[in-house]
Amino acid sequence: MPHRMGTISWCCPPSRVGLHTLVIVDHYSKLPSLNRSISLLSLSKKLKTRVTLPSSSSSLANPLQFSSSSTVGALNEELGAASSGLVGENDLLIVGPGVLGRLVAKKWRQEHPGCQVYGQTVTTDHHDDLIKIGINPSLKGTKLNHQFPYVIFCAPPSRTSDYIGDVREAALSWNGEGCFLFTSSSAPYDCNNNGQCDEDSPVVPFGRSPRTDVLLKAEKVVLESSGCVLRLAGLYKEDRGAHVYWLKKGTAEVRPDHILNLIHYEDAASLSVAILKKKFRGRILLGCDNHPLSRQEVMDLVAKSGKFSKKFEGFTGTSDPLGKKLNNMKTREEVGWEPQYPSFTHFLGVSD
Ligand SMILES: NC(=O)c1ccc[n+]([C@@H]2O[C@H](COP(=O)([O-])OP(=O)(O)OC[C@H]3O[C@@H](n4cnc5c(N)ncnc54)[C@H](OP(=O)(O)O)[C@@H]3O)[C@@H](O)[C@H]2O)c1
Repeated sequence: MPHRMGTISWCCPPSRVGLHTLVIVDHYSKLPSLNRSISLLSLSKKLKTRVTLPSSSSSLANPLQFSSSSTVGALNEELGAASSGLVGENDLLIVGPGVLGRLVAKKWRQEHPGCQVYGQTVTTDHHDDLIKIGINPSLKGTKLNHQFPYVIFCAPPSRTSDYIGDVREAALSWNGEGCFLFTSSSAPYDCNNNGQCDEDSPVVPFGRSPRTDVLLKAEKVVLESSGCVLRLAGLYKEDRGAHVYWLKKGTAEVRPDHILNLIHYEDAASLSVAILKKKFRGRILLGCDNHPLSRQEVMDLVAKSGKFSKKFEGFTGTSDPLGKKLNNMKTREEVGWEPQYPSFTHFLGVSD
């Protein structure tokens, strides 16, 4: 007698990994085939099991079988995913569904109820968390037999030896319809005297800094694929960002008068979603709150807010480079976007 699990019947207990057969019972098959296939996909990947899908909604005889060990590719091949419209017109692939990527997923789903969101990661460490919030996880390098209308790359350069290769892979996952967006950094803008900077300011020439070289090469790959680039200022939320880093350290060997540019994670996500929805091609946009602050001002505001238990002792640097003051009025006009948190000061609820 099969062991029942909601709308799904197990023919043997999940402890016997590799051999059990999953049967979709009749009422489950009344779901739209798209949802059915993708739910099945998530389950089969998560449980590394052998899956049996009934060939018709009314009969469990003559099942179509496939092994989930061959992952998404085989599954989709069997289901004829690429040609049968398995990918919905608003489905989204997030490469790097971390803090920003998950917020993008949430906002995207609010805008497009019923769409499927996929997330590609380096490890399986957060796959259970991703499944819980409705993101279909896969590992980087897993061959996906179909492309997506919307792709956003939100993975930092720090966890890979081939960031440009990873961005190229993401570009290949885009089907050219909706939009492909790469979240870059404002670091490439060539300004280190606390001067003004906007979307059109010149960038650091190749060869001056390995960090900006990687970003500029990745951006080039994106633009050549007709994707878009969003250069982001420093991302923050209450428990993440430069202020948290400095609070943990207590002191920092950098100069206090260096100007920083910030954008709240929620705002970076809403801007990303707004850009995706515009279906721009080959554009470079800038994400910042237009309220640059010196490092010292940031930490003074943190102290004044009374929201943090740790105490920051101070900045000790004197000769390291200064920063820049970013302004993204052009991006705001073109995208029709405004931040929910107009400044770090406003976010902390303190007066200037
Ligand atoms: N933080 C900032 O101040 C700042 C400033 C400007 C721009 N940005 C950009 O903003 C984006 C989002 O930042 P975030 O703070 O949200 O990132 P995050 O939370 O650190 O992102 C981590 C996620 O990315 C995955 N990941 C890491 N490297 C990957 C790779 N090479 N390929 C595929 N997945 C990868 C991780 O997989 P696992 O689950 O396996 O760990 C995890 O899901 C990044 O592109 C970053 O460069 C950040």
